[in-house]
Amino acid sequence: HRHLLGIEGLSPLDIKALLDLADEKVEVSRQVEKKKTTLRGRTQINLFFEPSTRTQSSFEIAGKRLGADVMNMSVASSSVKKGETLIDTAATLNAMRPDLIIVRHHAAGAVHLLAQKVDCSVVNAGDGAHEHPTQALLDALTIRRNKGRIAGLTVAICGDILHSRVARSNMILLAAMGAHVRLVAPSTLLPPGIERLGFEMHRDMKTGLKDADIVMMLRLQRERMNGSFVPSVKEYFRFYGLDQEKLNYAKPDALVMHPGPMNRGVEISSEVADGAQSLIREQVEMGVAVRMAVLEALASHLPNR
Ligand code: CP
Repeated sequence: HRHLLGIEGLSPLDIKALLDLADEKVEVSRQVEKKKTTLRGRTQINLFFEPSTRTQSSFEIAGKRLGADVMNMSVASSSVKKGETLIDTAATLNAMRPDLIIVRHHAAGAVHLLAQKVDCSVVNAGDGAHEHPTQALLDALTIRRNKGRIAGLTVAICGDILHSRVARSNMILLAAMGAHVRLVAPSTLLPPGIERLGFEMHRDMKTGLKDADIVMMLRLQRERMNGSFVPSVKEYFRFYGLDQEKLNYAKPDALVMHPGPMNRGVEISSEVADGAQSLIREQVEMGVAVRMAVLEALASHLPNR
């Protein structure tokens, strides 16, 4: 593959190969001397049209650990603010001969479009409600390292599925790797027609979390609910917020995940987020390793110039 635009299009073997490579990168990242030369001489541009803490910083660290020169494009102070389009911005950056562009954009499909307009490899760092492939890969790596496998596990994905590219990429990846995926959400936070995909669906946390091995919480994306249904935070937490009482419906050794950023007291309590069953900090560490693996896997497809 020349680009990583989504989990859709990756085979289970592709996913396994990336996770195996990422396991090696965890070890590299835990050494005192972390710097490798795989991407020496290569230029990586991070082009983020939406805010990010984890994804942007871990792509920067990952590129630098592999020896690339990394440039973070500051969209907020760029000519995008003067009306330059996505495609003109891409063509302008492409003329500077980068080898990799990492893109986050608020519109689903924008990253695919950009990939058609440039000569280099493109990685999707989140496009609208469509996909966030490196998040699903880092979640899979975290699950596999803690449970020893993905196949056969019951994973409950809970909350604002309607707006979540994280949920979408995870649903595709976890199903491809043989997990039992459950969706737990109020009907107002489910995409129309989702029942056709055949996932087990629950409106209630009690039945949705029963016997779950992994409880994956999602952020309530209020910034994407323009004027439509915006639940009250208090009501939402009461019915769908993960506290210890609801977590006790899952298996006793169930583990809790959240892609971040978290809204404490909205979709998850601090007690659970910071508790013994939480993998949230480990997910962040795995994020760097997975992004190193993705960049290295693309290295053999980078422009020969
Ligand atoms: N999980 C995630 O994508 O976080 P950021 O928005 O901070 O990158």
